[in-house]
Amino acid sequence: MSDLLKKDKQYVWHPFTQMKNADEPLEIIKAEKTILYTADGKKYIDCNSSWWVNVHGHGHPHIGKAINEQFFKIDHVIFAGATHPKAVELAERIINILPKNHFQKVFFSDDGSTAVEVALKMAFQYWFNKNEPRKRILALDGGYHGDTFGAMAIGQRGYFNKPFEHFFFDVDLLDFPNTDKENELLVKAESLFKTNEFACVILEPIIQGSAGMKTYSIKWLNKLVKLAQKHDVLIIFDEVMTAWGRTGKLFAMNHCEIVPDIVCLSKGLTGGVLPLGLTVTHNKIYNAFLSDEKSKALLHGHSFTGNPIVCAAACASLDLFEKDETWKKIEFICNKNTEFLQKIKNHKSIKEVRKCGTILAIEINTGEGNSYFSTIRDEAYKYFLGKGLLIRPLGNVIFINPPYSITENEINKIYIEILQFLENIKK
Ligand SMILES: Cc1ncc(COP(=O)(O)O)c(C=O)c1O
Repeated sequence: MSDLLKKDKQYVWHPFTQMKNADEPLEIIKAEKTILYTADGKKYIDCNSSWWVNVHGHGHPHIGKAINEQFFKIDHVIFAGATHPKAVELAERIINILPKNHFQKVFFSDDGSTAVEVALKMAFQYWFNKNEPRKRILALDGGYHGDTFGAMAIGQRGYFNKPFEHFFFDVDLLDFPNTDKENELLVKAESLFKTNEFACVILEPIIQGSAGMKTYSIKWLNKLVKLAQKHDVLIIFDEVMTAWGRTGKLFAMNHCEIVPDIVCLSKGLTGGVLPLGLTVTHNKIYNAFLSDEKSKALLHGHSFTGNPIVCAAACASLDLFEKDETWKKIEFICNKNTEFLQKIKNHKSIKEVRKCGTILAIEINTGEGNSYFSTIRDEAYKYFLGKGLLIRPLGNVIFINPPYSITENEINKIYIEILQFLENIKK
């Protein structure tokens, strides 16, 4: 074991990891474009963009330059009672790339979970400030919105959050909209909305990420949102995973006829190199917080809210999204995934293969349900590591959502190894 790994074992507590028997972590010494390099001289393709965040490839010089320059202008400054050019530039640019004439205000926080917490607070306090307290919330079963308490409460309950469950607030859940349930679920949603007790509905639009990259009907989503609008229920889209070209368009909502009231952004927002969360909304909500009473303000914030270096990284990432080249790369991955899906869709080891933009998910037929703890998960993880691919399956779902810097050779290598893995599965 290297000195670094020994010290890691001695001092570090890793996320989502049973430290008692976890394998040694990869000792990464360099990350460049799509490749992660380890101390023992191995190379890995970062097939899941390092927890789905890296969009332009590691070490992009344009983002690096922006971060470096910003450090020497303003490294950090309090964001209450002070402002700075990069935060304002970012907020203006975000409003201008979201669907036109709808969103007006951007609230800054630190990551996906906090962007969701802020959205929940906005929605509940909106009703509170209007003196019509609505206390119920509707979410989609199987969702994942983060690991802070509010985000856990509205997400899938189970192994991950059992010890805390008694602290969670009540949430009404709508089953995942499988085709045969779509109408029934809309009827249920409307009957709930009619109670006038619902503050908001929150969901991951068009694809649930952590649930296993599960896609659902955009038409159904349009209908659900229209019902919510009809009954004045606020709609929150958690686009933490789905934004930044992942679904083939800049935002998942760009596939829809409707727009939400609040959208949560993070992950690829800074190109995936620094943590930042944004919660974006319109003036109808914002105005409900304007009052002579200070307590009606959104009394929420974090030490690093609006950090200038982070904002500079996000602005640099937006520059890259303005380039045709980025969209060509996204289209390239989308097309390659479509071709590969056609090739493997009838494979005997596959239960279902799903594609959404640059995301390709293969649900392995294990005979069991989809479980995060499916034994095939560890088997697949190790198999792919042995082949130079860092793929972190979600239970029996193997998926790729690579950085857009991926080359044709690299993506072909991923497909070859996935196919080989499928071939090796014993029936
Ligand atoms: C849809 C969604 N929302 C929220 C989060 C939480 O983001 P973070 O891990 O940055 O707190 C995630 C993380 O995977 C996510 O996929």
